[in-house]
Amino acid sequence: MADKLFILTGTSRGMGAAIAEQLLAPGHVLLCLARHRNDALAAQAQASGARCEQWALDLARPVEAADRLDAWLAALDAASFDAATLINNAAALTRIGPIDECSSAELASALRVGLEAPLLLSAAFLRGTRAWGAGRRVLNIASGLGRRAMAGQALYCATKAGIDHLSRAMALDEAMRPNGAKIVSLAPGVIDTDMQRHLRAGDAAGFPEKANFISLKEQGQLTSASDAAARVLGYLARADFGANVTADVRD
Ligand SMILES: NC(=O)c1ccc[n+]([C@@H]2O[C@H](COP(=O)([O-])OP(=O)(O)OC[C@H]3O[C@@H](n4cnc5c(N)ncnc54)[C@H](OP(=O)(O)O)[C@@H]3O)[C@@H](O)[C@H]2O)c1
Repeated sequence: MADKLFILTGTSRGMGAAIAEQLLAPGHVLLCLARHRNDALAAQAQASGARCEQWALDLARPVEAADRLDAWLAALDAASFDAATLINNAAALTRIGPIDECSSAELASALRVGLEAPLLLSAAFLRGTRAWGAGRRVLNIASGLGRRAMAGQALYCATKAGIDHLSRAMALDEAMRPNGAKIVSLAPGVIDTDMQRHLRAGDAAGFPEKANFISLKEQGQLTSASDAAARVLGYLARADFGANVTADVRD
């Protein structure tokens, strides 16, 4: 039986870790990218029958990551896969407040993780699997904040708006090619992870919506990482994946 390849970013914690765990199954080959290795994932992978490789790398240096992915894909046996998927999940917030309160280094790093890395990894994935017979999908994890501006996280809003529009334009390119990849930019809902903790801890002075984020948590309105992962993977498996390039799991 043919294998299914999944390349995922941000798998050390949060929703990315849950997605990776739920993908562990016989016949699945996972390549997981984050700065920190996920030991629990490695242990579960051994028991699951899946093949799971983890690269501990910083996506703020996306050229290195993309070059390594180019070489890795070139060494695979394309004929052994009937599906290949890239999930660009990793993202980074800056400190809460207007951009001029962040250092240039902090802004550049978050911009690279949130937008430059997904773009370069997508390019490497599409290039490396172009000649494969496998069905190919790119799932970019978007956010409601890419579609609605919010004070205090301008850079994050910009990266997520960029993810949406990158996905739209990539989908147009892929539609013109034989066995073009299906592309979706998917908002995953509001999830109980470190990202929400960071927002709730922000200084209200530069962050008028702080109280809303606290109330979402207090009222139990956050989705667990595992439920969010299940919904994202449910969307990824849909037969009409790619029909709507910008989507929301709550649609
Ligand atoms: N949580 C929410 O409510 C929410 C809402 C809408 C959209 N989203 C989106 O959903 C996705 C997952 O979010 P989450 O809440 O699970 O985030 P999270 O808990 O903050 O986890 C972020 C992941 O990204 C990785 N990452 C961050 N900086 C990195 C870097 N420089 N290099 C490599 N990996 C890096 C982290 O791993 P390391 O630290 O080990 O590098 C971690 O695995 C993100 O795209 C986020 O924007 C989340």
